[in-house]
Amino acid sequence: MSYYKVHSLEQYFKHYNKSLREPRKFWDRIADENFTWYQKWDKVVEFDMQEAEIKWFLNAKVNITKNCIDRHLAKRGDKTAILFEPNNPKEEAQHISYNELYDRVCKMANVLRSQGVEKGDRVCIYLPMIPELAVAVLACARIGAIHSVVFAGFSASAVASRVNDSECKMVITADGGFRGNKTIALKEIIDEALEKCPTVEKTLVVKRTNTNVNMKEGRDLWLQPLLDKADANNVAEIMDAEDPLFILYTSGSTGKPKGMLHTTAGYMVYSAYTFKNVFAYEEGDVYWCTADIGWITGHSYIVYGPLLNGATTVLFEGVPSYPDFGRFWEVVDKHKVTQFYTAPTAIRALAKENWEWVNKYDLSSLKVIGSVGEPINEEAWHWYNDHVGKKKSPIVDTWWQTETGGIMISPLPFITPTKPTYATLPLPGVQPVLMDDKRNEIEGNQVVGSLCIKFPWPGMARTIWGDHQRFKETYFSAYPGKYFTGDGALRDEVGYYRITGRVDDVVIVSGHNLGTAPIEDAINEHPAVAESAIVGFPHDVKGNALYGFIILKESGESRDRENLKKEINEHISSHIGPIAKLDKIQFVTGLPKTRSGKIMRRILRKIAEGDFSNFGDTTTLLNPEIVEEIKDNRI
Ligand code: WTA
Repeated sequence: MSYYKVHSLEQYFKHYNKSLREPRKFWDRIADENFTWYQKWDKVVEFDMQEAEIKWFLNAKVNITKNCIDRHLAKRGDKTAILFEPNNPKEEAQHISYNELYDRVCKMANVLRSQGVEKGDRVCIYLPMIPELAVAVLACARIGAIHSVVFAGFSASAVASRVNDSECKMVITADGGFRGNKTIALKEIIDEALEKCPTVEKTLVVKRTNTNVNMKEGRDLWLQPLLDKADANNVAEIMDAEDPLFILYTSGSTGKPKGMLHTTAGYMVYSAYTFKNVFAYEEGDVYWCTADIGWITGHSYIVYGPLLNGATTVLFEGVPSYPDFGRFWEVVDKHKVTQFYTAPTAIRALAKENWEWVNKYDLSSLKVIGSVGEPINEEAWHWYNDHVGKKKSPIVDTWWQTETGGIMISPLPFITPTKPTYATLPLPGVQPVLMDDKRNEIEGNQVVGSLCIKFPWPGMARTIWGDHQRFKETYFSAYPGKYFTGDGALRDEVGYYRITGRVDDVVIVSGHNLGTAPIEDAINEHPAVAESAIVGFPHDVKGNALYGFIILKESGESRDRENLKKEINEHISSHIGPIAKLDKIQFVTGLPKTRSGKIMRRILRKIAEGDFSNFGDTTTLLNPEIVEEIKDNRI
């Protein structure tokens, strides 16, 4: 029996139980039967969840790009691997076949090598959603360089801190990027960032917008002329199963960027397996995930998962509102998309517009529609189900994280009965548990707790780049022996999971994870600011928005408040990126603090939400009187 694909609910339970009883055999079989290896493993898994030491497929040798590209060439050489849909609907779509992808990745890999990039070197990729982004990612993997894709909406200082944290040798960028009716000057941002990045030796620049850019002698090179001269064959590097594949930064509770490190074989097996099952991908399907490759969703479910399965994956450069609110549906209709995967924030934004935008187009090609990034509220779920899925395409509400590498809890389409707002059941191989405040596992159903995972899975991150101690403390110490997700969840009467949201200081704004600490650090750098506290509050499109409580220095007191608010948001924009701007700013004279000086965010969260009903115990506060003042002046 093959375990790679679940075909029925009965089989799901069979596979699930097998994965509980014999996780090693379960993953051994999947890895053995569905990939090409230079050498198989000696042992499936070795782990110590106390020390956060995890290894999968020990001593196996593999190259993920051989599995994404080379092995498909005989059967699917002419099949479209990447279907590029440009920002401007008037620009023609590009169908990049597996053969062509092979050529492009090999050429790019040869360019990287000729520019001095070697196995283990870090390469920062700061590109818009164009084919070169996927090609650059794969080219790094081909030669064993560790890619660190930084979302092209991050500011110069955010890029610089990421480049420096992992000591990147090279940056791959573009002159600019198109986003709706805007052009973003990416090279300019990189120029500013690189003033503070001593490790970067070379920058490769893709021409996309034909914007005039400054090319620094000896450092910056246009990519195309190098590709034109490059050989279209490349011998892939033989990678150990646990050799690093990529670093991807995510938000944490301190200002220091948190580079999650994923390794080769486990990530490959897990992203492929989850893609196949969650999207029920069949040969001939056209799969589209609207995320950006700058986030984990794009890594696992635009690039690796689909290509590992020989799929056709759509890469979309644009935004849902350009040239109008029908764009997503126009693209589905045009390319006869069969699987569509997006975020609740996009669904809510589109649900606000006239539903005629959806009805104008033929969506009958759709088979499965998905959601990721934050809890999907009931209203958005129904709108998606009624207008997009037409009540016939199941919604897969997929719960997972940058850290998990792939989808962990999700319905399997046509197999698991869906339930609005529920991510439903764990995938085979995933062992979720709910924990109470006393760190005990909560048994049974109809319970609520902190979501942990009690057994390793192949796709999990192995460490935080350069800081294993932080990895251990963040994920493996709150509930010793278990991986702590940072999310709260409930388990209903039949064992379905519903994710209720973060229980830590991360706020998810429009599907983007934002740590409050780095934003506070940025605000506190403003010369007029003494101290600040950021919390999230519910927002009907973004899911959550940010509310800042800010104490001014004496010197700032006389400043015009509206100007100050603007300046603070500009400051955040240039230090982190526009996504982290505050929706509301309230200037306060103090912040509620415990006697040990810790800000009581729980109270600020309630005030921001406009819920004054129960602040809980405020007697432990150093300054209980401040609560009234903040409450009275709430915006
Ligand atoms: C949240 C994105 C509810 C959750 C893949 C998680 C979700 C964080 C869902 C990870 C979902 C993601 N339902 N919440 N279906 N999917 N989340 O690292 O809080 O960007 O911890 O990975 O997003 O966000 P990240």
